[in-house]
Amino acid sequence: MRIGLLGGSFDPFHIGHEALIKGAINDGNVDCVIVIPSCRNPFKPGKTLSAAPYRYYMTNNAIASNRAFDGKVFVSDIEYSYPGISYTLTTIKEISKPNYIRTFLSSMGIDKELAYANHSFYWICGSDVLPSFEKWHEPEKILGLCGLLVASRPGDGIDIDSQKNRLAGIFGFEPNITEFPISGYVAASSDIRVTRDYSLVPDSVKDFIITNALYGDENPIDFVSADSAQDFYENAIKLYKYLGEKRLLHTLNVALLSCHYAHVFNPDLCDKALIAGELHDCAKELDEELQWEMAREISGDVFNHKKLIHSPAGALFAQQEFGVHDPSIIDAIMYHTTGRGGMEELDKYVYVADKLEPARTYADLTRERVLAEVNLDESIKLIIGNVKKKFESRGQDIHPLTFDFINDLGV
Ligand SMILES: [Fe+2]
Ligand SMILES: [Fe+2]
Repeated sequence: MRIGLLGGSFDPFHIGHEALIKGAINDGNVDCVIVIPSCRNPFKPGKTLSAAPYRYYMTNNAIASNRAFDGKVFVSDIEYSYPGISYTLTTIKEISKPNYIRTFLSSMGIDKELAYANHSFYWICGSDVLPSFEKWHEPEKILGLCGLLVASRPGDGIDIDSQKNRLAGIFGFEPNITEFPISGYVAASSDIRVTRDYSLVPDSVKDFIITNALYGDENPIDFVSADSAQDFYENAIKLYKYLGEKRLLHTLNVALLSCHYAHVFNPDLCDKALIAGELHDCAKELDEELQWEMAREISGDVFNHKKLIHSPAGALFAQQEFGVHDPSIIDAIMYHTTGRGGMEELDKYVYVADKLEPARTYADLTRERVLAEVNLDESIKLIIGNVKKKFESRGQDIHPLTFDFINDLGV
């Protein structure tokens, strides 16, 4: 098959990306397109981008909801599978390995005979990359593995033939560059993040942005150190291995909201709140028996119900797998389900964020959310009052730790 590859940060995926994919397929240059959201973008380090799983799932939703892309356009998580910066060359090398591409295409429903046939690869990009293509990381090697499929727009001012000659002069061989026309509005993700003009994104992307409250007035990552931001991004990539879509997005939302509460009430705790929130459910999808073992190892039989064991198991997993050893972060993870007597501030940020993160829809949480901006304890009283009622109506015992928590608050 002739396989087009479209890499990018997709923060957010927008109609310009759709136009590139449609253009490449409709012009007959490729049989299918694999979209590859970046994990660690070499050109956008630091705090610029949303955490990788947000961008991956947003792109995945956009492709899945476009009927015209059925069976022709796929999204790959290949960049989660290797460490270090996601250079284009590394990604092309990894995705074009026969073992990977055959399994991937088969898993996407491509007929086995086709999936196991020989493939050629084309990196899809805009014509604007050509004038500086030689500055990419190891560009000759990229051209050795794939062709370039270059979108040109009327009046974009770039003469593809002269760029081809220029690059041939630099590299000493004629690069395989094919041009295809595209039309439509030119959109830029960085502008959309600022203007929030969501007419430039597919509906599924708009829903995703709103559900997860991306691109708000404030970016909590701005409140933490560069090291903590880096830890947050790396943990998010690692969590992809352990959590499904819904829970992973939930944990990232909890991280950012915990950090927001810390910024409102005690900015010194922003860094810890971000990491504690991010890892609070890190063990929740591990094998249940393993969770019981981990819970017993770190806390004896204090957490004695299967709905609670992911908290102590998470406290242990955060240490073992994510290298977090700050006792206050470990405690915030440990007590995020039950609460405890003498809850620390950090515990409360994570507890409340877990209940109120933007994707939570289990009840109308408007009052709780408004209150939490000014008085966390009052919001917790509303939340815990409902928890107490739920337990009473079911005739269930309240956990002794939760009982202490409730007594402290005087609910
Ligand atoms: Fe939890
Ligand atoms: Fe949670």
